[in-house]
Formats: sequence, structure tokens, C-alpha cells
Amino acid sequence: MPPMATKDTTHAWDAQTYDQISAPMTRMGTTVLDRLQLTGNETVLDAGCGSGRVTAKLLERLPDGRVIALDGSEAMLTEARANLAGFGARVTYLRADLSQELPAFGPVDAILSTATFHWVTGHADLFKRLASHLRPSGQLIAQWGGFGNVANVIDALDSVRSEFRELADWDGPWWFPTTDDVTALLETAGFQVHRAWLTREYVTLETREELERYLGTPVLVAHLDRVGPAHHATLVTKVADRLPGMTINYVRMNVVAARLPHTTSVGRGYHQP
Ligand SMILES: C[S@@+](CC[C@H](N)C(=O)[O-])C[C@H]1O[C@@H](n2cnc3c(N)ncnc32)[C@H](O)[C@@H]1O
Repeated sequence: MPPMATKDTTHAWDAQTYDQISAPMTRMGTTVLDRLQLTGNETVLDAGCGSGRVTAKLLERLPDGRVIALDGSEAMLTEARANLAGFGARVTYLRADLSQELPAFGPVDAILSTATFHWVTGHADLFKRLASHLRPSGQLIAQWGGFGNVANVIDALDSVRSEFRELADWDGPWWFPTTDDVTALLETAGFQVHRAWLTREYVTLETREELERYLGTPVLVAHLDRVGPAHHATLVTKVADRLPGMTINYVRMNVVAARLPHTTSVGRGYHQP
């Protein structure tokens, strides 16, 4: 699949660090993956594959199937290629921005996405775009930040925001929706929502050093991009100082949905009016 000519609208992810510190994301992502109903020969899109740790577990469930590992970050895809080398040609890597039109592929049998959709912009279009690359009745299984996510980090950020000119009037990079918002957008995009619900997750870091490393990648990656390298360490230190403890309070949006049957797909050679 040819690489997409894309401007990098995603952030400057430190993919090696992410790979090392993303055990909490892998744990949450594995629970989400378990919701995917597979026989083992399907083609599944991993939308926002990161360094490929959850993708590897997906591939283990697809001994005769394939995965399209999509991410907007070239650094993440490089890390994913190394981590998933053992799966050979069963993985296709695709650099693409989920906030923009996607290159032609599929239609796939299912879409998995973990810890990614809150970084994307334009969710009405995102869900329409995903529906158009999914076969009728294909599953969409996803988890990302929901309403109330990382509230204690946002409180800490708010208390230091005025010290960073670039953050002062910025709403931030995230979309943390309610279940009603998500259900409405998905239904408009052509999905049947079997279930959309919020769960709480707590990630507690052992040491101050680990906390700062975790805040730097992944939590504050967009904020650090915005303030620039000269201010990275100061921002991370100040946010860590203002957090009431060593725990990040996550709220996750969980979605189990399927594309409605008998709708048009833009995928390779598949149009069913
Ligand atoms: C927190 S990581 C999650 C990675 C993996 N799914 C996991 O659960 O560990 C978020 C990923 O989403 C990707 N991402 C963020 N915004 C994106 C966009 N607009 N288009 C494509 N990928 C995006 C990032 O590059 C990153 O790899």
C-alpha cells in the first residue's frame, strides 16, 4: 500500500519511550481486544496502532488473518514494524491521518482502536470515514478518553496554564465525549451502537521519575509540542508538582458497534447500494 502524502497533524511521539511505558495502555487495550469476535481469518484495521503492542495481541488472534496497522506517526510505525516483524506479510503498515481522508483500502471485516480517538479531530467525519472502510455488519470495537478523562491532570494544567503563553487560550488537544454524544455521532455515521459506556481506570506510577516520564509520553505530548522543547521539562515538572499524588485518573469511553448492513462501502471493489 503506497504511503499517504500527509502532513504530520499528529504529535511528536517518542515511540521508543511509548513502547517502554505503555503497559497501562496495553493492559486496557487487551481488555478491549477481547470484545472483538473473530474466527481467525479476518482482516482488521488497527486505527492508531502506536508501537504495535496491542496489534501483536490482535495478530495472535488472527492466525489466518491480516491486520492493517494505521498510524499518523512515522516514528510509531517504525517501532511497530520492529515489534511486529515476526508476523511478516500478515501486517500492512499505513501512515495516514485519521483526521483527514484516508487512502483506499478494504473494506475490512472489523476495526479496533485503542487510546487514539481523543487525539483525532472531526469525529462526525472520522466515524463516517471508518464506516466507509468497513464491510456491512463489520464490528467497530474502540476505547479512548471519555468525559472526565484525566481530570486531575487537567486541573494541574489549569493551575499552571497562565505561566505558558502558548497554553493560555488553548482548549487543549483532546475530545472526551459523553456516551450520548458518541452514540449520536456513530448512528449518524451508519453504525448500530450495541453498547457505549464509561469506565474508570487508575494508573499509579511508583516514582516521581516514572511519573514525569509518563506525563511526558503520552499524556502531555500535545502540550509539549505546543510550548516547544525549551519548556518541556518545566511544564512536566510543574504539572507533576500540582498533581495531588502519583495516580492518573482515567475515564475511558468504550464502544461496541457494527456498521449497518446494506450500506455503500468505498473499499476495494465493494459497493452495495
Ligand atoms: C496512546 S497511542 C495508542 C497506541 C496503541 N493503540 C495502544 O493502545 O497502545 C495513540 C496513537 O494514536 C496515534 N494518533 C494520534 N492522532 C492520530 C491521527 N490523527 N491519525 C492517526 N494516528 C493518530 C498516535 O500517533 C499514537 O500512535
